[in-house]
Amino acid sequence: MFKQKEYWASRTGLILAMAGNAVGLGNFLRFPAQAVHNGGGAFIIPYLVSFLVMGLPLLYVEWAIGRHGGRFGHHQTTGMFYIIGGSRIWWYIGILGVFNCLAVATYYLYIESWTLAYAFYSVSGVFGEKTLEEISVFFSSYLGTVDNSIISISSAGVFFFIVTLILNVWILSRGLNKGIEVASKIGMPLLILFAVFLAVRAFTLDEGEYGAVNDAIKGLNFLWEPQFDSLTNPKIWLAAAGQVFFTLSLGMGSIHCYASYLKENHDIALNASAAGWLNEAVEVILGGSIIIPIAVAYLGVDWIQQHVGFEMGFRTMPFLFQQWGPVRGAIAGLLWFGLLFFAGITSSLAMGQPVLAFLQDAFKIQRKPSALIFGGIVLFLATPCVLFYSLGSFDEFDYWVGTFSLVLLALTESILFAWVFGMKKGWVEITRGADIVLPDIFCYILKYVTPVFLIMVFTASLIKPEGGNWASALTILRDSGSWTFAPDSVIGNLLHYGIQDTRWFINGVPTKLFITDATRLLLTIVFLIIGMSTVKIALNNDNNTVKE
Ligand code: PHE
Repeated sequence: MFKQKEYWASRTGLILAMAGNAVGLGNFLRFPAQAVHNGGGAFIIPYLVSFLVMGLPLLYVEWAIGRHGGRFGHHQTTGMFYIIGGSRIWWYIGILGVFNCLAVATYYLYIESWTLAYAFYSVSGVFGEKTLEEISVFFSSYLGTVDNSIISISSAGVFFFIVTLILNVWILSRGLNKGIEVASKIGMPLLILFAVFLAVRAFTLDEGEYGAVNDAIKGLNFLWEPQFDSLTNPKIWLAAAGQVFFTLSLGMGSIHCYASYLKENHDIALNASAAGWLNEAVEVILGGSIIIPIAVAYLGVDWIQQHVGFEMGFRTMPFLFQQWGPVRGAIAGLLWFGLLFFAGITSSLAMGQPVLAFLQDAFKIQRKPSALIFGGIVLFLATPCVLFYSLGSFDEFDYWVGTFSLVLLALTESILFAWVFGMKKGWVEITRGADIVLPDIFCYILKYVTPVFLIMVFTASLIKPEGGNWASALTILRDSGSWTFAPDSVIGNLLHYGIQDTRWFINGVPTKLFITDATRLLLTIVFLIIGMSTVKIALNNDNNTVKE
């Protein structure tokens, strides 16, 4: 059993690292896309409610579980859950915390590497006189998806991925203080500075300036004009709750890990609140003020609604920046992709650290070799993710881990904390050493509201009806007793709803369905391997009996 050896060197370091964990690509690419897909102003109320009743309370829980686990030398969720839950089953549920970090890191690092490449391309002038269409094609050729072949690969894509991976492994191998803390102290201020600069530029972009056809403010109005009728639409609630999860890094195991490097009486209440609110400010204020207003200024609201998505930051933004002239365009591109890179790396480090902690706990491997092993596993797992990008391997990772498994972990831990450990002990744990007085209402929210909210979110995503129309699905259920799952509900997805041709091979060539199933199998194997290694730690743990 490893005893606690490392701690955060300073409060600033801790908050920046935790905020860096949360502030990521989700804030600048995923949030705007989700908000637009879900009707702009319609999204924001469910989003804020989800943050208050689920996001913030779960942050306290994850920090508390982490700090508690750290006292017993646990830096990843298996041992932490066991100590809190007191029974072996919790040990196994904790596997999710290692699995989620590893699997999300795999595809997250790939996107992070695009940002590094694009920062480089922006200054090298590649985008020069290219049209919007040509820049989009450039991105497809970067991904290697241009010719619709089965395998997507480009030498530049592989090169930047390897560089990004090496950088992450190197920082992780330097340890908590010299690695993660230093990276966060450099990355976070720079990314905020870059984002403020771009947001101010976006805000002040007027119709007619540099060829803009609208005032950029139009984009902000679209995003912020509240629409109260959205409150009864479960689809929007699901999307909003999903975004809160992703952006706060909840249900991953990474917050637990970072919090385990706190001392026993170090504050949680203020630190967790500060990191959480900082993330929200960066997401809602800065994340919402760059890509949408600029794109609306040039392309209009309708265009955005049709084209918005995760890739827009790469397919569209370089073209729009070029409208400001070659030098300004290059600087804007460097700031945009630079800020994405800093946001990405401070998050991917947070996914790597729990895996390192797991390797240390399970196999007693030291930090440096652990970091190398982490790099090796990510490289291995990323291979299908990258090569079969256009056949949907990447999307499978994102769906099963980045969307489904996060909620599963959060749901189980909220029950573990509030009902198994008990809110009485739980509240003492959260408020011990607190530098602010947390309103008692959180105690009740944590006991009743958060678990119920999570159960609703989880069930809704399991059984989401065809077409996403709950009202009519419920009427049909009442009248005819039947229910049709949507293809993107968890059950529909699992059973391949909506897919007509169920062949794995056509003329000896693997189909999308084959890649989908093979990716699922791979994820299952990874999960089982982590699980089996966990048995080993569990046995070690029994021999050392570290229970309270
Ligand atoms: N919160 C990060 C983002 O917004 C993603 C992330 C998830 C980071 C899980 C760490 C752990 O991009």
